Amino acid sequence: MQSHDTDRHPFLQGLSRHRGVPPTVIVIFGASGDLTARKLVPAIYNLGLDNLLPSDFYLIGFGRKAIQDEAFREMTQTDVQKYSRRPLHPEFWEHLSEKVLYHTGDYDQVEAYKALGERIDVIEKNLGRDIQLLFYISTPPTVFKPILENLGASGLAARHAGTALASKIIIEKPFGRDLDSAKGLNQVLRQQFQESQVFRIDHYLGKETVQDLLVQRFSNSIFEPIWNFRYVDCIQITVAEELGVGTRGGYYDQSGALRDMIQNHTMQLLSLVAMEPPVSLSPEDIRDEKVKLLKAIQPVDLRPEGGDVIRAHYTEGLVSGERVPGYTQEQGIPADSFTETYAAIRLFINNWRWQGVPIYLRSGKRMPRRVSEIAVQFKQPPGALFSDTARFDLAPNTMVMQIQPDEGTTLLINSKIPGLETRTQPVKMHFRYSTTFGSNTPEAYERLILDAMGGDGTLFIRGDETETSWGIFTPILDFWQSGGRRGLETYASGSWGPVAADRLLWERKHEWRRPGP
Ligand code: BG6
Repeated sequence: MQSHDTDRHPFLQGLSRHRGVPPTVIVIFGASGDLTARKLVPAIYNLGLDNLLPSDFYLIGFGRKAIQDEAFREMTQTDVQKYSRRPLHPEFWEHLSEKVLYHTGDYDQVEAYKALGERIDVIEKNLGRDIQLLFYISTPPTVFKPILENLGASGLAARHAGTALASKIIIEKPFGRDLDSAKGLNQVLRQQFQESQVFRIDHYLGKETVQDLLVQRFSNSIFEPIWNFRYVDCIQITVAEELGVGTRGGYYDQSGALRDMIQNHTMQLLSLVAMEPPVSLSPEDIRDEKVKLLKAIQPVDLRPEGGDVIRAHYTEGLVSGERVPGYTQEQGIPADSFTETYAAIRLFINNWRWQGVPIYLRSGKRMPRRVSEIAVQFKQPPGALFSDTARFDLAPNTMVMQIQPDEGTTLLINSKIPGLETRTQPVKMHFRYSTTFGSNTPEAYERLILDAMGGDGTLFIRGDETETSWGIFTPILDFWQSGGRRGLETYASGSWGPVAADRLLWERKHEWRRPGP
């Protein structure tokens, strides 16, 4: 049992070790939603448990449902019990939950926001000091605009403007559904907030392994010299999920794999693995490099024959031994839907470092298992010393950064099989987080909420970044939309995707990796 379960929690002894985070009220819009229950409340609780919340901290749930403070506290307690990575610590929870409040209001009624402002005035008066507001927008995107406008009209957005306690806003995905809508949303945001106050979430950036990409690349000297077109043959990024669309059919059918996963999560992985070294670790220097990388991506070839994109949705099949329905049989999905649950794309980066190196991205639901990885595959050595395939089983050197699960990095090399004859076999050098560091790492949302409270935007998407990324994918979305079902492939649930996606790689004598260490 961990010490916090037996000892009096250090937070209760006033031993906060937060990193300069000012007193904060987090206001969650969409407080009765799934994300709040599964991720946000447990993340805040775990930050508290690690003493990383400021000593003056409040959580206010804002939502349309009329809920009393006490009932909201009970809801959040259940969320912690169900979803927290560490068990509920009763004494600490009692302390934290005193600061958990609920505010009922319609998103489009400015009075509700003014009334919230009055509650915050009371909090400040009781504390005898000013407090920063961090708004967390975790609602369906249809209400983003009224919320932003009312935060402005009620004066909440401008509270303590120009000081270190200026309001901040975290905005959940989806950030737009194409380039135009993303630009529109940025415009509304900019009317109320400065870019430094805005934190656009991509939760992949909060994952420990994703943050480690920069550290592994730029704190080691052995990778950088070979991290370019001279040595790298291709890069493959896979974000596979075992789950289907579940109960989210209504959202998902309007979205699809390209919007839901590729445009954001996979592109973040690509940016970090392929960008140039930043001048410093400051948020702007890192994000400048990410944007530069995105700008260098060539427009994709959309031709159905020989083009760079494949889309598909799953049919019935077996996943982990269980029979599961096809996409169009799922709850809330129209029988004639042509939304993709799988997308594979071949990209080229038109810059000095990556000229001519194909980048293969794929993401799908109902794949054989949940795995996200980045594989950097190196070129074959020159010469033909080991060309006798009967004796020499050789694989391309590949560095695999496994984002989840079983987080780690693996290097594939070829080695002699011990014995009197010379025979070879590919072998693996492994680093596993769980064996080296133990397995109780913070969840992505913990890091992201902590950073936003402290005003650090490094792990968030900048406005120009999201627009540049949408600029790459909007032509594909438009093309698919105009083509209806034309070109939509299918794949059996429990398979690694449609056969058609193999063609993207065969054309350059590559093959999809079987993901895993
Ligand atoms: C979300 C998508 O952004 O990421 C979901 O909307 C997906 O469809 C999820 O399941 C995957 O996240 P993770 O952290 O489980 O890989």
